[in-house]
Amino acid sequence: MKRIFFLALFTTVLIVLLHPSSVSARQFYFAGNIVADPSMVSIDESSNPQDKDKGIGPIKSVELGPLNSKMGNEGKVIYTNQCIICHDIDQNKLGPALKNVTKTRTPEYIMNILLNPVQMQKENATVKALLAKYNNLPMPDPALNQAKARSVLEYLRSLVK
Ligand code: HEC
Repeated sequence: MKRIFFLALFTTVLIVLLHPSSVSARQFYFAGNIVADPSMVSIDESSNPQDKDKGIGPIKSVELGPLNSKMGNEGKVIYTNQCIICHDIDQNKLGPALKNVTKTRTPEYIMNILLNPVQMQKENATVKALLAKYNNLPMPDPALNQAKARSVLEYLRSLVK
């Protein structure tokens, strides 16, 4: 009698464990664990930007020469008109501070986010993490052409002391 009871108990436990719904529940739980919470993704700001991604967009490579102050001044005008509202130079506001952005990101990434922000927000891991950090505020497309984006890059280079 006792044996039958234990056998029944054992079978019940087995059925519960192997039931398809509990299998999928375990998989779901597992999936929940491996999908990273975007707010937990840390953004590495220390390593060499040369090792990092170039973003997604029309710019595949940028040759940097010595600082060009004429271009930098043009970039400053654009920055003051279109960017400063969200990007303080030294402090994170609606968007990240940009003082050291040319140290932490490649020039290609910077120009691509200016020329192609919507796709980068969808597909670039760094920008996706930033988006989560900045309250899911998508940076609007500043509608610059490549020459203007290049001037802004030159201005951003001039901020690094
Ligand atoms: C409405 C606010 C807003 C405006 C205007 C804006 N940005 Fe942004 N920007 C953001 C936010 C927020 C992010 C973080 C990514 C995201 O949420 O899309 C960002 C990200 C960036 C990044 C990437 C920073 C990094 O560390 O990777 C750069 C570079 C940048 N912006 C430059 C500019 C420039 C230059 C302009 C002006 C032409 C500009 N932004 C205009 C809000 C703004």
